[in-house]
Amino acid sequence: MGRRVLIGSRGIITGASSGIGRSLAELMIRKQGRLVLAARRSERLHELTTLAARHGAEVIPVSVDLTNPEARSKLVAAAREHFGALDFLVNNAGMGALGRFEDMPPDRLREVMELNFFAPVELTYAVLPLLKSGNRPILVNISSILGHRGIPWRSYYCASKFAIQGFSEAIRAELSRYGIDVLVVSPGRTKTELFDGPLERGIEPAWPEPTPVSAKYVAAKIFSAMRQGKSEIIPHVWGKGMVFLSRCFPRFMDWFLRRYA
Ligand SMILES: NC(=O)c1ccc[n+]([C@@H]2O[C@H](COP(=O)([O-])OP(=O)(O)OC[C@H]3O[C@@H](n4cnc5c(N)ncnc54)[C@H](OP(=O)(O)O)[C@@H]3O)[C@@H](O)[C@H]2O)c1
Repeated sequence: MGRRVLIGSRGIITGASSGIGRSLAELMIRKQGRLVLAARRSERLHELTTLAARHGAEVIPVSVDLTNPEARSKLVAAAREHFGALDFLVNNAGMGALGRFEDMPPDRLREVMELNFFAPVELTYAVLPLLKSGNRPILVNISSILGHRGIPWRSYYCASKFAIQGFSEAIRAELSRYGIDVLVVSPGRTKTELFDGPLERGIEPAWPEPTPVSAKYVAAKIFSAMRQGKSEIIPHVWGKGMVFLSRCFPRFMDWFLRRYA
């Protein structure tokens, strides 16, 4: 099958107010997308409505907290009412969490899982009937390098990303019977507001941090992978190296990571 045509396509992007989600929304707007955009900060979403007007795109901003089940129903209702069907869903909204396991109360894990795992899974469930009627539909789940390799100080975040990774792989086979592709994106360090989040503050271990890539770069990679119908991408070169090392030399990675624990 040829490349997927994304011009004028109908989709939902969560976490569209900043970072990767916003850059992807801007890209889709320039391709005359018809989009339901979700996040809590409504003023940021309204900026995208203005941009859409300039590019002949259509944006329905829905200001919601995705951890609220009613909010997810609102998104689906908006997509059904305005577009009737969906060609893509991008589950992008997410939060980070930094800290040693022994210092992190278990209710924080529930908070992280609520946004990074339960919200995308439940939104996917609710959106399936609309995707089934879409044009070459695709589900895009934003995971992380840390959905491939657990690292110290990020146990809750890693758990949430491993969960979304396993979920995506499992439903990829199931959804293929409806012609729905599933793309998992595993960004590495990207310059966004993720690290300003409420559970991200604290003393960070002195990692040898890679230079972050821009959200625009990651968005362009996602767009291209959607067009090509890819199953998985790791946009950051350093991230590819880390996944390779942890698959081929797991004991070396264990040794290396222990130094920073
Ligand atoms: N940045 C990185 O280095 C990196 C690396 C690997 C994976 N990722 C993943 O990439 C995805 C996007 O993150 P980002 O880096 O672009 O971070 P970001 O700039 O902080 O964007 C996060 C987005 O999620 C939204 N959001 C957060 N909590 C929400 C809630 N309760 N309800 C609705 N929306 C909510 C935020 O909007 P509001 O605050 O307006 O609600 C924002 O639009 C996440 O899944 C993240 O785990 C990022």
